[in-house]
Amino acid sequence: MSTAKPIYICDQCNEINIKWSGKCESCGSWNSLSLQENNIAQLSKNKNFKNSNPITLHKLNDTEKKISRLKTKNNEFDRVIGGGFVGGSALLVGGDPGIGKSTLLLQISAQCSSNDLRVLYVSGEEGIDQIRLRGSRLNIQNSSMDLVTSTSIFDIIKILSTQPKPDLVIIDSIQTMRDENIDSSPGTVSQVRSSTQTLINFAKANMITLILVGHVTKEGTIAGPRVIEHMVDCVLYFEGEKNHPYRILRSVKNRFGPTDEIGVFEMTSLGLQTVENPSSLFINKEDIDLSGTSFFAGIEGTRPLLTQIQSLVVKSSLGTPRRAVVGVDSGRLSLIIAVLEARCNISFSSHDIYINVAGGLKVTEPAADLAIAAALLSSFYDIALDSNKVYFGEISLSGSLRPANRSNIRLKEAIKLGFKKADTSNNNDTTKEFNDKMEIYILKSITELNKRIKEEK
Ligand code: TYD
Ligand code: MG
Repeated sequence: MSTAKPIYICDQCNEINIKWSGKCESCGSWNSLSLQENNIAQLSKNKNFKNSNPITLHKLNDTEKKISRLKTKNNEFDRVIGGGFVGGSALLVGGDPGIGKSTLLLQISAQCSSNDLRVLYVSGEEGIDQIRLRGSRLNIQNSSMDLVTSTSIFDIIKILSTQPKPDLVIIDSIQTMRDENIDSSPGTVSQVRSSTQTLINFAKANMITLILVGHVTKEGTIAGPRVIEHMVDCVLYFEGEKNHPYRILRSVKNRFGPTDEIGVFEMTSLGLQTVENPSSLFINKEDIDLSGTSFFAGIEGTRPLLTQIQSLVVKSSLGTPRRAVVGVDSGRLSLIIAVLEARCNISFSSHDIYINVAGGLKVTEPAADLAIAAALLSSFYDIALDSNKVYFGEISLSGSLRPANRSNIRLKEAIKLGFKKADTSNNNDTTKEFNDKMEIYILKSITELNKRIKEEK
């Protein structure tokens, strides 16, 4: 049986219609549509079909054309994007206003231009003098990169096609750009989408690497509603707490490299400095004599990162107790609370719960479950946890525990930072090589964690 849908072809102009109507939409003639089989013989009469270009087939195993990568010389940035820019790719750097996107990209631009790459920095937000002032603050005033202030994408494309072709173009920010063919004002969904598409098409055709800066809206998505995330090859988020000096560049999408890789930077009076070994930055062992704090041996991308989870569980005076979380997914916290209530016979229903990850970090790994549960139980019972212990492991709804991946990297880093004990859900096979350096306890269930914490009193 044929599965092809019927089509209607106008016998005057050969236009294809998928529905019958009395009048042909294309040439306006009446009663000219007739039902046809949807096959090539019929299609070939259509003018659009005749004008379409033949498509070239490529072999997947054709290795003639290798991807070339442009290194920025900024180790953290290069690692996050998978080892340098891919020529002709488009990247989006998103983040809260004031977090340091312009600072980062101006520094990257200067590093690239000192690396003999032609860089054009387009600002739609700041004047040339302001950028120069920032440049001298960052000690890159002698950089040979080109600057331009413009908010019109046609003007930008005109510059790009008349000047010697740059290797890298920064657009700061995409929300200030305007495509004159679209009526709406800059920053609206249609403007952002159209400006992005036009710029990407031009950049790809000319092998120019394009970095778009995007401000995050209050809902936490890049305005407008993530419309440009799917158009670009790589999406990076620049995150951090404004009151903390540390900033994290996180890759959430990368067509040419791994995702969930992070780069750590410190905002100083001389701009952003890379932090090559960040795992000890986010922990403070002095806090741990008090209840409610636990250490999580985490992994971000390819690197271990130790984090400090803080929790406060207090009697609530509200009808619906508060659940306030910073740095942890609130859905994940609800799940852990529900499992603790169901399996350990504890009730949090009359308690407010606050969770915070120290240093403005965001923890997204499920392996953090054990550390979060330990911090909650510690605060609930008011029992301080051992300051030399790290936790990692995933909690399942049944209350049993699942192993975390790459436990050897986690344990190695914990040992390096002076931790002496680990409570984990990983089995003995994956941890035994560390048995002589560390006291490793294999937890089987959440009830066992509860019992162990109560015993610490
Ligand atoms: P900026 O790069 O303008 O943020 P964004 O482009 O994401 O909006 O960063 C502005 C903040 O960075 C500002 O609050 C001051 C701070 N800053 C420093 O602390 N040191 C520096 O050297 C620079 C240039 C900025
Ligand atoms: Mg800016």
